[in-house]
Amino acid sequence: MSVVWRKKKTTVLTFLDKKTRGEKITVLTAYDYITARLLDQAGIDSLLVGDSSANVIHGFRSTLPMTMDIMVAHTAAVSRGNERALVIADMPFMSFQPSEEIAILNAGRFLKEAEAEAVKVEGGFEIVPTVRRLIECGIPVMGHIGLTPQSIHRLGGPRVQGREDKSRTYLMESALALEEAGCFSMVLELVEREVAADITAALKTTATIGIGAGPGCDGQVLVINDMLGLREPEFKPKFLREYADLSIIISDAVKRYIADVRSGDFPGADESYGSK
Ligand code: KIV
Repeated sequence: MSVVWRKKKTTVLTFLDKKTRGEKITVLTAYDYITARLLDQAGIDSLLVGDSSANVIHGFRSTLPMTMDIMVAHTAAVSRGNERALVIADMPFMSFQPSEEIAILNAGRFLKEAEAEAVKVEGGFEIVPTVRRLIECGIPVMGHIGLTPQSIHRLGGPRVQGREDKSRTYLMESALALEEAGCFSMVLELVEREVAADITAALKTTATIGIGAGPGCDGQVLVINDMLGLREPEFKPKFLREYADLSIIISDAVKRYIADVRSGDFPGADESYGSK
């Protein structure tokens, strides 16, 4: 067998290794080639091609309209920009819920057509049979519990999960069942920090990746547009730390460009072709 394996490539085993050593795992979303390249070169462990692209790239109000074709295109672009990070593709609404066979065929598309190395599926112990089948087919699976945006209507909005006994029990039982099914990692979204820490401690072979779930998780994920300030001003959840405000930088650059074109300052002699 002659497989060329890139040196220092992050794999699903890296997640477990880091969890075991108590080293935090870093994950950011990415949806396009150049962003993937920048994040990979900056040293991120994993690129999650989230169906949050529905909101932050395509302007939908929920993630429900996202399709397989769009997600495959985003994932392929991210893979082309990536060398070392683990690329995880998010299975969109109705790409895995209808049947195990549909789930396998769609997850397979991400690996065959877009060079994804794992898929993420939303849901608790009710999706365990599907998770098992995907893993049996050689497809690593990241689980996703807590606030699962594809169930936003059932959950009654973006509410913190794990506040009531029933919800805490559901989260813990789901986490243990998903671990038993073989998930290499699991997103905990909008979960009370004590509950997330308890789940993280209870899981031995599944790394937890938190978003709005406090510091007790094995790693953290943020939506790249949100942490770079490319968001609507009214969207500012408590868990979000903004590392840059690209909205201001972009808006300022565009205003200067408009002024330069209108005044005739751009393009200058150095910015045009000619013999003299
Ligand atoms: O779609 C997404 O970006 C996600 C992350 C927020 C975990 O699911």
